Amino acid sequence: MNKDYPQGQLPQEAALRLMDQPYYWAFCWASGLVLSEYIVANPDLVAGKRVVDFGCGSGVVAIAAAKAGAAEVVACDIDPVAMLATRENAELNQVTLTYSDDFDHIDGSVDLIIVADVLYDRDNFPWLSRFVDRAGEVLIADSRVKNFDFPPYRQIDRRSGCTMPDLDESAEFRDVRIYQAATEAACL
Ligand SMILES: C[S@@+](CC[C@H](N)C(=O)[O-])C[C@H]1O[C@@H](n2cnc3c(N)ncnc32)[C@H](O)[C@@H]1O
Repeated sequence: MNKDYPQGQLPQEAALRLMDQPYYWAFCWASGLVLSEYIVANPDLVAGKRVVDFGCGSGVVAIAAAKAGAAEVVACDIDPVAMLATRENAELNQVTLTYSDDFDHIDGSVDLIIVADVLYDRDNFPWLSRFVDRAGEVLIADSRVKNFDFPPYRQIDRRSGCTMPDLDESAEFRDVRIYQAATEAACL
């Protein structure tokens, strides 16, 4: 799946243009790549579960969860173009997802929320506690927040990843940490 993304570095002019008006869905972000690989390597995390991918972008993490055996994956993003991109990428990868453009309109119980690279915007920090209220388990992948200290989240892994196509981001943004919050019931 990841090999389908262009692996080369974008010309500087194209990268600057994109920074002006980011098409988030056009990239497999380093955190999305790392969380996708983590889920594929640990399919028990998602197997048989109803999963929400919050801020799905291209859909890379949602698709990884579906391929790893989730019972249902709801891909959620506020950007309508991201939803289109996710639909196309799901079709290309021959997985079935469900879709939501509004987290608050997702009905029914949710076992696991997966979130990659949405904390670039501090306005999204309040979502961290909302996720814990909504699902028994939450997995966050992030390389943007320094000194991440949001109990009950705890760091469970740390891996290196590179955004594709390569935006030539500084090394710190390739240092991705995975944080987990889980209720006792979810751990049983
Ligand atoms: C940097 S991209 C990450 C995409 C993907 N998770 C990945 O790692 O490749 C962030 C995505 O989060 C979405 N997003 C940001 N705030 C959101 C919100 N409040 N609700 C849903 N999606 C949001 C953006 O539209 C964007 O598609």
